[in-house]
Amino acid sequence: MPHPQPAPTPLGLRGPAFGGDYNPEQWPEEVWHEDVRLMREAGVTMVSVGIFSWALLEPEPGRYDFGWLDRLLDLLHVNGVRVDLGTPTVAPPAWFYRAHPDALPLTADGVRYAFGSRGAICHSSPAYRQAAAGITEQLARRYGTHPALAMWHVHNEYGVPVSACYCDTCAAHFRRWLAARHGTVEAVNEAWGTAFWGQRYHTLDEIQPPRATPTVGNPAQRLDYARFADATMRENFTAERDILHRLAPGVPVTTNFMTALSQCESVDYWAWGREVDLVTNDHYLITDGRRTHVNLAMAADLTRSVAGGAPWLLLEHSAGGVNWQPRNPAKLPGEMARNSLAHVARGSEGAMFFQWRQSRRGAEKFHSAMVPQAGTDSRVWREVSALGADLGRLEGIRGTRTVADVAMLWDWQSWWAQRLEWRPSEDHDARERADTFYAALYDHHLTVDFAHPDADLSAYPLVVVPALYLATEETGRNLRRYVEGGGTLVVSYFSGIVDADDAVHPGPYPGALRDVLGLTVEEFSPLLDGHTVRLTTPEGAPEGPDLTGDVWSDVVVPRGAETLWTYADGLPAGRPAITRNRLGEGTAWYVSTRLSGPDLDTVLGRALADAGVTPRTGLAHDVEVVRRTGETGTYLFAINHTDAPAGVRLDAPGTELLTGQGVVEELTVPAGAVRVVRLDG
Ligand code: GAL
Repeated sequence: MPHPQPAPTPLGLRGPAFGGDYNPEQWPEEVWHEDVRLMREAGVTMVSVGIFSWALLEPEPGRYDFGWLDRLLDLLHVNGVRVDLGTPTVAPPAWFYRAHPDALPLTADGVRYAFGSRGAICHSSPAYRQAAAGITEQLARRYGTHPALAMWHVHNEYGVPVSACYCDTCAAHFRRWLAARHGTVEAVNEAWGTAFWGQRYHTLDEIQPPRATPTVGNPAQRLDYARFADATMRENFTAERDILHRLAPGVPVTTNFMTALSQCESVDYWAWGREVDLVTNDHYLITDGRRTHVNLAMAADLTRSVAGGAPWLLLEHSAGGVNWQPRNPAKLPGEMARNSLAHVARGSEGAMFFQWRQSRRGAEKFHSAMVPQAGTDSRVWREVSALGADLGRLEGIRGTRTVADVAMLWDWQSWWAQRLEWRPSEDHDARERADTFYAALYDHHLTVDFAHPDADLSAYPLVVVPALYLATEETGRNLRRYVEGGGTLVVSYFSGIVDADDAVHPGPYPGALRDVLGLTVEEFSPLLDGHTVRLTTPEGAPEGPDLTGDVWSDVVVPRGAETLWTYADGLPAGRPAITRNRLGEGTAWYVSTRLSGPDLDTVLGRALADAGVTPRTGLAHDVEVVRRTGETGTYLFAINHTDAPAGVRLDAPGTELLTGQGVVEELTVPAGAVRVVRLDG
């Protein structure tokens, strides 16, 4: 739900942020002058600086060399480029590890990582914490009032590449965390179900991190460790943030998230969203044949949602191909601008990149950049400059909010729990369900907000729950309240099964949701690989096409819910497969098998009708229409991901901001292009 206050924005920026990670320490200083000239030419408004610069800034413990950064910030300032200044704490120097080898993280298998990459950090290490606080304090004192400073960029992508360490320092820290969470060793025994397999602890001191075990380790212990690792990184973020707030009051503090579920799995962004002043996100296209623009839209919606609906900022994406996938296609003409503006449509206050100038050395020399190896006589540079100009035309969108139609529940902690081993089927994948439900809503041209399961959902006519294995009783009550108040809820299988300790709710499945769904599940009956089940409508129910499910089926016992489809084969043949429970003013749907494509669409279409949501019609597949609205007006973004021109009907006339043309009734978006209409009135 929206934050009561407008989110802080980078200081000194009038319009959208445009620029990228700038690593000038990789270049002789004469190149810096060329850089700022090109930045002005391309309309760059802000760059992120110093993210990996610790070894240069503090060449030996307690000796600082700020000369180069002073010169750089002054140069950027006189050229009108704002600075998102990094605390370099993701890359401690070699001298630090030499003095503190135990600050390198230990894997669950007992392997100690080595220096020579980045992000090799044991977040419990007192030496790391002290050194990180030291450099952060130095930077805050030196640059906190520098006129170029727009905001602070703490660390880099917490959780990537390593989130958890399993060393003895972490073990002691984990025991303190457990004492705070559970109180006593008895409570830990209870929560973890240690009566099973003789795992009972007699004192907290006996407890270790969930290191490699001969067979499956205690799932509740592993879930708590995932929470602990996330909380430990957050402790380090808030420690730096508090130093910056204290020494440089009024300057917004962020750390770049990676909300795409395919890119970072170990961070509970609901919790992090509350700690940053401004939510920022990094997003990279995963080019594995899936529809990258749908994944992008989902990540952008998720980012906006962890920002409480407020505007946020895309801090990194790529001008072209990345270099860390098996195959890294270049972006096609127009694709970069489409990607950038799709993030803006969904709430970003600009588009920033990794990185400004492509490196000649190091691990990322084949990663695209705003200034490619080919220099400025290149398609990438021309597209970068054109994007800078386009963003300059969108000043008015600042502070406006994206309008969502429906909501999807998502909970990282439930995902962590569900992914542990020895579940009924390894083919059930929470992320796949979230992706598939999201794509179905996207294809109905609906804009999706994500919500935490305990959030107030009353603003949404429809809420989908693609995978919520872990759901507390409080969540059950929240969903019941939502439905009774008139909401339409669609719940997919294997949801509402366990509580916060990964213990199965007492009584038949799905304990937390029996009530709202009006049914119980007597047995799970997961399907073998490649097997399917057929679903038909029973007599008396509204007619519908036969459907096909795979991966999962349930033996459902209706307890108030009506049956809309039954299983025609499989173990549950003749039993309900898809049900609807009318409760208070609303309805709760249950989908007990894995539906995809048109079959999922059929069911969602019915639920949308229940909810009174009319999906936009008359829009071509893969033409995206999203609105932002606020004090400066309403802006309609139309993004054409197809190879043919697309028509978009407008409900009010307006001005297309990228071409400056007036439009009435019908907007034409050329193939692969984006149009942004400021609607009149
Ligand atoms: C990001 C990271 C950047 C750069 C980029 C390459 O995750 O923050 O520093 O490595 O990936 O795609």
